[in-house]
Amino acid sequence: MGKITDYLAQDHDRLDALFTKAGADPAALDLDAYEAFRRGLLKHVGMEELILIPAARRLSGAAVALAERTRLDHGALTSLLIPSPTPAILEVLRSVLKPHNEMEERPEGLYEQCELALGAEADAVLERLRSAPDIPPAAHVDGPHVTASIRRALAAAGYEEMGRKI
Ligand SMILES: [Fe+2]
Ligand SMILES: [Fe+2]
Repeated sequence: MGKITDYLAQDHDRLDALFTKAGADPAALDLDAYEAFRRGLLKHVGMEELILIPAARRLSGAAVALAERTRLDHGALTSLLIPSPTPAILEVLRSVLKPHNEMEERPEGLYEQCELALGAEADAVLERLRSAPDIPPAAHVDGPHVTASIRRALAAAGYEEMGRKI
């Protein structure tokens, strides 16, 4: 496993722990844990979309094979972070996040594709990931237009049926 895979997989584990804590009691979500998860996931997606994937594209001259699949999942995940959390939102988040993280971490997955493309630049990119800024998320927004945009993002990522759960 390369150093970038190791670093981002550890961040997956950290975020998984916060997510599990947030939803441990579906009748009373742990909102502090959820907000820490939300902030962490937004930063994590930013590291992948704004640093890792563009660096791999720049060095190899073409997007890595899983870049588009990743972008669609990120669109669904970040849309699910917009409304106030509910047990149904957490259930859908879990259903998208688990296979997403596996797709990134597995052999020949997103991270390995990026590390191969980066070659000798991997250490420099890892340093940029380590110093990525923490951006405070915007306040939650609720309403039918938010639900509709989540459903569109889920459908674009191939998760149309999950849109009925929210
Ligand atoms: Fe990701
Ligand atoms: Fe990730």
